[in-house]
Amino acid sequence: MDTGTLTSYAGLAGKTVFITGGGSGIGAAFTRAFAGQGARVAFVDIAEEESRALTSQIQKETGTAPFFIACDLRDIAALQAAIEKIRFELGDVGVLINNAGNDDRHTLDQVTPAYWDDRIEVNLRHMFFAAQAVAPQMKRLGGGTIINLGSIIWRLKQTGLPVYNVTKASINGLTRVLAREFGPFGIRVNTISPGAIWTERQIKLWYTPEFESEVLAGQCMKMRVLPSDVANMALFLASDAAEKCTAQDFIVDAGWS
Ligand SMILES: NC(=O)c1ccc[n+]([C@@H]2O[C@H](COP(=O)([O-])OP(=O)(O)OC[C@H]3O[C@@H](n4cnc5c(N)ncnc54)[C@H](O)[C@@H]3O)[C@@H](O)[C@H]2O)c1
Repeated sequence: MDTGTLTSYAGLAGKTVFITGGGSGIGAAFTRAFAGQGARVAFVDIAEEESRALTSQIQKETGTAPFFIACDLRDIAALQAAIEKIRFELGDVGVLINNAGNDDRHTLDQVTPAYWDDRIEVNLRHMFFAAQAVAPQMKRLGGGTIINLGSIIWRLKQTGLPVYNVTKASINGLTRVLAREFGPFGIRVNTISPGAIWTERQIKLWYTPEFESEVLAGQCMKMRVLPSDVANMALFLASDAAEKCTAQDFIVDAGWS
């Protein structure tokens, strides 16, 4: 249970915030966090049931449901159509959080060209096209914020999911290139790189007591890092408090990397 406290920032209320993969895990923490600030939150996700349950819960808690569109981000035309619908329903997007990803394990030998392409589509390609699609909207607004979810995994040189590692390393490059492209228009672009975050999926699939001991031994701070810790970083980066922060990688890992 994530009981982390979220910081409030003036200026996020009323902004249109678009989150990919906002239906579960860290993405759900972003959806909740920005809804709690009074932002107009829209998200896409492939997991329809979990996403609809989340929108109902948030509606009960805040009185307003986030706007959900079912979308497989491997389909770029569907992503572009979803962004256009969100603009029509909620207004120009001021904050984009490129969050969706999938860290299924795969050995180096198992990787075929088709699997390589699929991992790139799930973990990287949609981030570029989402940024491309919202940029004209942010330019109209006079600025905006894009946050790309990276990872510390490639810094740790972790084995067992090489293509995922490659995509996560590439996201730092994507951030820096987009920050330079969009900076003159008042659009800030940053990476958030989480460490081991205690989401339901991670707990179910990978977080054994042995893994937790390894993580805690590696971290400077001997504590679990929660989705709300990552959400707090996203709120800060989306806020005016971060108005001079762009092209950077903000690591939330309790000092593991
Ligand atoms: N949890 C961690 O410890 C951790 C660590 C480092 C980086 N990250 C990164 O943070 C982000 C979120 O991670 P998470 O742990 O919450 O992941 P998660 O797998 O729990 O959630 C990802 C969300 O994206 C959605 N999604 C996946 N593929 C999709 C697709 N093709 N189309 C639409 N939606 C899709 C999923 O349904 C899910 O709701 C990812 O980019 C991940 O790589 C997570």
